[in-house]
Amino acid sequence: MIIVIDFGSQFNQLIARRVRENNVYCQIEPSDIPVNKIKDLNPDGIILSGGPSSIYEKNSPSIDSTLFDLGVPILGICYGMHYMVHTLGGKIKKAAKREYGFAHLNIIESNPLFKDMETGFQSWMSHGDSAIELPDDFVITASTENTAIAAIANHEKKFYGLQLHPEVEHSVNGTKMIRHFLFDVCDCEQSWSMKSFCDGAISQIKTAVGDKKVIMGLSGGVDSSVAATLIHEAIGKNLFCIFVDNGLLRKNEKKDLEKNLTTNLDLNIRFVDAKEKFLSKLEGVTDPEKKRKIIGKLFIEVFESESNKIEGAQFLGQGTLYPDIIESKSAFGGPTSIIKSHHNVGGLPEKMKLKLIEPLQLLFKDEVRKLGTELGIKDELVWRQPFPGPGLAIRIMGEITPSRLNILREADAVLLEEIKQAGLYRKLWQSFAVLLPIKSVGVMGDKRTFENCIAIRAVTSNDAMTADWAKLPHDLLGQISNRIINEVENINRVVFDITSKPPGTIEWE
Ligand code: XMP
Repeated sequence: MIIVIDFGSQFNQLIARRVRENNVYCQIEPSDIPVNKIKDLNPDGIILSGGPSSIYEKNSPSIDSTLFDLGVPILGICYGMHYMVHTLGGKIKKAAKREYGFAHLNIIESNPLFKDMETGFQSWMSHGDSAIELPDDFVITASTENTAIAAIANHEKKFYGLQLHPEVEHSVNGTKMIRHFLFDVCDCEQSWSMKSFCDGAISQIKTAVGDKKVIMGLSGGVDSSVAATLIHEAIGKNLFCIFVDNGLLRKNEKKDLEKNLTTNLDLNIRFVDAKEKFLSKLEGVTDPEKKRKIIGKLFIEVFESESNKIEGAQFLGQGTLYPDIIESKSAFGGPTSIIKSHHNVGGLPEKMKLKLIEPLQLLFKDEVRKLGTELGIKDELVWRQPFPGPGLAIRIMGEITPSRLNILREADAVLLEEIKQAGLYRKLWQSFAVLLPIKSVGVMGDKRTFENCIAIRAVTSNDAMTADWAKLPHDLLGQISNRIINEVENINRVVFDITSKPPGTIEWE
């Protein structure tokens, strides 16, 4: 197994994921972990993550330096490399020129990390400090135009440092470097799989819950369905699921979900109709964050009152994934720049005095899908595109009214039908319609119209942290536009959103 020491990088989960993609078990630990505990875990290798701090800053993260005496191979990435250099007697300095984004990496000395690679290629950098002097027994293995010391090695001790971020998709050969660290440096075995994660998670849930009851909200999406199935595997009928219809679902969604959930999963589910409650509270509200807060608060109320009917529950199950957590929390757990207030994180457990069970919190979406398949969940459910908790409320710009909900539902249904027919549904991370708050002039049947506008949003992504707009074929776009305008009343214009994330977000609100 590999331990990733968390120095606060936004990418540390990505590092763990790259390791797990190679079927090697990986655990992330905070930098204040005692070295004895690391020793007990007996890792084959340690990765020191990057981080936002500068090594010379007060309170910059550090780890007990006896880590370097364990005789275990270490790979330091960015801040992790700076930490290694600084601790072992080298020097780090603020770089004359920040290096952010792509840089051409020139290999100076071949080493196990760069095995079978050409002598130069693109890498992805993000640093303000650089190493200027190396500790004893280290050599420079690569450089870039701005950074003389871009990769280092101490071959004898099997310590390696990379200024670049190999975990980021844009670093050419980055995944290879990680693979080489695992197998050529650390001699790891490929023994970890979704099956072993699944078995481990089930036994952990069993131990944590015992014969107590767990309550869980189901949305009908992949995450809550997979989490519920996993918990169900562990504790069976002591899991009680609640599905709240908030009136913000897509066309036929409730019917489809009812069919899918009850026939695909042998779960204990209560369906609650709370449409009126949600829509009346949302009347006249146009601010996106206000919408989210209202929906989140109401959801908690409805959920709480339903769960009060289930006596003696002590746990709350949630299908929270890692991206939900990092977008709502900083790397150190404090509140920083909350991009959007995801309503499935926080709030509920404190209020209900329940302990949380979040078996998917270290997984990315594609891993959750693999786990779903491992658990025997049908493809139709496992491959559902994500749908946000606040539902159509954040896809109607401006006020939410029953008639605007209907317009969006119909347009969205057409769009999804066409995407599925074109065989693109699984290839896209999400594809949906957005109802804009503007009207525009058109002409239909020789008559002037002044009607609503629909935006088509379709993105590709691996984890929703970044996304690219999908290059849908023009014919398909034409067909979607044509059908929406012909089949959905009160729409006379369709536009296509060509914004990636960042700078846009996937949803419009
Ligand atoms: P953004 O719009 O932030 O979305 O790029 C990233 C992913 O999260 C989903 N999303 C939400 N999911 N509650 C949720 O459960 C929310 O408030 C929420 N906002 C966005 C979005 O659909 C995308 O998959």
